[in-house]
Amino acid sequence: MIAAIRGTHDILPGQVERWQLVERVAAELCARYGYVEVRTPVIEREELFSKGTGETTDIVQKEMYSFTDKGGDRITLRPEATPSMVRAYVEHSLEHALPSTKLYSMGPMFRYERPQKGRYRQFHQLDVEVFGLNDPAVDAEVIDLAWSLIEALQILQAELVINSVGCAECRPKFQEALLAALGDDLPKLCGDCQRRAKTNPLRIYDCKVPADQPIIDRLPHSVDYLCEACATHFAAVKGHLDGWQIPWRVSHRLVRGLDYYTRTTFEILGQTLGAQNALLGGGRYDGLVKSLGGPDRTGIGFAAGLERLVLALPEGAGAEPPPRAFVAAIGDDGRAEALKILRELRRAGVSTQMELEARSIKAQMKRADRLAARVTIIVGGDELARGEITLRDMRASEQRAVSRASVVDAVRELLTRSAG
Ligand code: HAM
Repeated sequence: MIAAIRGTHDILPGQVERWQLVERVAAELCARYGYVEVRTPVIEREELFSKGTGETTDIVQKEMYSFTDKGGDRITLRPEATPSMVRAYVEHSLEHALPSTKLYSMGPMFRYERPQKGRYRQFHQLDVEVFGLNDPAVDAEVIDLAWSLIEALQILQAELVINSVGCAECRPKFQEALLAALGDDLPKLCGDCQRRAKTNPLRIYDCKVPADQPIIDRLPHSVDYLCEACATHFAAVKGHLDGWQIPWRVSHRLVRGLDYYTRTTFEILGQTLGAQNALLGGGRYDGLVKSLGGPDRTGIGFAAGLERLVLALPEGAGAEPPPRAFVAAIGDDGRAEALKILRELRRAGVSTQMELEARSIKAQMKRADRLAARVTIIVGGDELARGEITLRDMRASEQRAVSRASVVDAVRELLTRSAG
């Protein structure tokens, strides 16, 4: 037996309904907020991520599934969607082709991480990106979409955390202050932090090593080093969130694990996920489009882990509606007519099942019960000779004869009545 690869999983009936619910709610909400869907390939050139996601990130340094294809090109299974969305935006000049560049996408991502609850090697994201809009109201609207998604899915006890990591003008000053504050403590930090101090000092805030925490707690906060423009922007974002009564908390440690962020960063944390508690995360990335060879356009977005949303859904969410009708046949004549009725009902839009292998009527009725059919149509015997069939209301355990010609109407009428 060949088992699934570690960190990947099958989504089976019983679970898949929860996925469908999340996907449906996400797509509906994105459309309501004016986003259009884009689907990009799962494989891209490796350099898209080394340049886009960033050379100093854990993703690029340790987690990418990369290989050389038969033509000699370096290919990567996308670890995140943002660089692909930027590529598609630039490659197809979407800023001219579309009335507005608010894009979303859903699909699998790949990271060679250590699997645990909420963390997988193949996982799925809803990714949302907005290009070319700078106003703080856009940051707030993106955060509002994220927050509304969590609300629409009835995920309780979620918490919104925000931060600002500044821009190319103010970030160097903050990094300098950070390194100065570290001073002699730097050699006491873990190896990863020492590496980060050289490549991207902000990411020291991502460190989870317990022994490092007292030192990290004493370090300065990026919001205290923002230039005037960034400070004004951040204040306006918070003002808009307050105006919409979206509760937020500033976390100065929210620097995010990717290199491209500028100004606003945010995450929504869940309660049910243990260590992997980020349901979604994102932020502004004003230099990324240009650095990937596009025009000088700003960007902002977020990605939600679909596995994590599914895990956080309330119990019983997305339960599959039972098949509405079941057709049971008695004898060969009954069977021939039952097959016709099966198709008639389906063509009339009624979800209908039937045992296609001949079975006793008892076995067929058992099956109807198991499928939780609302109504069973019993076809055969004397009734059929009289041009009638039997309609059984499974909930009331009552049955009556109706004319063969009116079967579709009679089933519809019963289902409408029971839906009310
Ligand atoms: P990220 O924080 O790396 O950001 O991932 C976003 C979300 O994807 C996480 O909050 C989590 O829910 C989910 N996720 C990440 N890794 C895994 C994993 N190994 N297993 C399960 N779920 C996972 C990004 O990917 C950015 N591209 C977000 C963004 C879009 N920023 C701007 N635009």
